[in-house]
Amino acid sequence: MPFGSRHLLGLENLPSEDIVSILDTASAFREVLDRPIKKVPTLQGKTVLNLFLESSTRTRTSFELAERRLSADVVSLSGDASSIRKGESLKDTARNIEMMKIDIVVIRHSAAGAPLFLTKVIDATVINAGDGAHEHPTQALLDLYTIREKMGTIEGKHVCIVGDISHSRVALSNIHGLRAMGAKVSVCGPATLIPRGIDRLGVSNVFTDVDEAIRHCDVLNVLRLQLERHGRPLFPSIREYRQYFAVTKERLAKASRDIVIMHPGPINRDVELSADVADGEQSVILQQVLNGVAVRMAVLYLLGTQR
Ligand code: CP
Repeated sequence: MPFGSRHLLGLENLPSEDIVSILDTASAFREVLDRPIKKVPTLQGKTVLNLFLESSTRTRTSFELAERRLSADVVSLSGDASSIRKGESLKDTARNIEMMKIDIVVIRHSAAGAPLFLTKVIDATVINAGDGAHEHPTQALLDLYTIREKMGTIEGKHVCIVGDISHSRVALSNIHGLRAMGAKVSVCGPATLIPRGIDRLGVSNVFTDVDEAIRHCDVLNVLRLQLERHGRPLFPSIREYRQYFAVTKERLAKASRDIVIMHPGPINRDVELSADVADGEQSVILQQVLNGVAVRMAVLYLLGTQR
């Protein structure tokens, strides 16, 4: 059994051997995705509910494809289309659906801790597909997979996460996962977008100058400004943010080596990342998306075949 837990709620405290097990299993499923018939019978007879109570393009599509490619039965429910809009609680929603014999619930929710709460009120396996500004474990796992695929190893590589660190679940899951795998992790952004006490998570450098970050790192994982989570203005203007923090071709040209460019999406083109960099040779952004299906197949397989 690869996990100490029946659930995947985050990468905090997930041992490196479990991460390696997921990445190795994902490599096998990545090969399945290149076959003419991209389907295996692994989760035949299992039923998965995708409960997406916050918007998503990549994660939801990726989970649904991963489940179908594993031959699971799949039901999907979004916030807009559910009775949560009529006032039904998350607990009642989950318990009603579980009575229909669901084995795995994949949940995205705007509240940090919603997936943990679900584990206490239902018996099904719970997978966190992003909870508030807390964790997004499968995004970080696909980021780790992509770094390993591109660079051969994660250990010893210097990954800098750039942008809105304070409001990002991707940042937190990446910090935990990268540290567990032996990478050096730094962050870069305006001081108002970097949480106090970030050094306690084992971050080695806090850069407030993106050119300085580019001089030191092997990988830049660029994040979107999560303006919808900012209660008040945290920097003077988008124009100024772009001027000081956007990752552009001109800035990358000053680096002595080719830095790998990652972004979890959705991208705000020409805000945090110039369009030519997003689409350029150093970018692995679309490989991240492809690898996400294989990584989610691995997580569903490892958790879904435990019992
Ligand atoms: N990376 C990511 O979580 O994208 P979505 O919000 O589109 O799922």
